[in-house]
Amino acid sequence: MTITFEGEPLSVPAGISVAAALLAGGVKNFRSSVVGGRPRAPYCMMGVCFECLVEIDGIPARQSCLIPVREGMAIRRQIGAVELQFGAGEKA
Ligand code: FES
Repeated sequence: MTITFEGEPLSVPAGISVAAALLAGGVKNFRSSVVGGRPRAPYCMMGVCFECLVEIDGIPARQSCLIPVREGMAIRRQIGAVELQFGAGEKA
């Protein structure tokens, strides 16, 4: 199947996680660290370490090791921290 990473098409196997698909496609830099901006990539592949965060279809900070890859997904690197969004009546 075909997904995009940073706007570039990537042909990946079906039936695996987004993290596994990106790794199979040769991606080594999934996100930048919050402190220092260093490149990060998946480590545990089971939802524990949060090193695999990426933006998927415009939604930031998704754990790519826990999400099945799907045709047409648009994936981007997670750059630093995500701003918290609060609803009406909530305080930061
Ligand atoms: S690789 Fe550790 S949470 Fe995804």
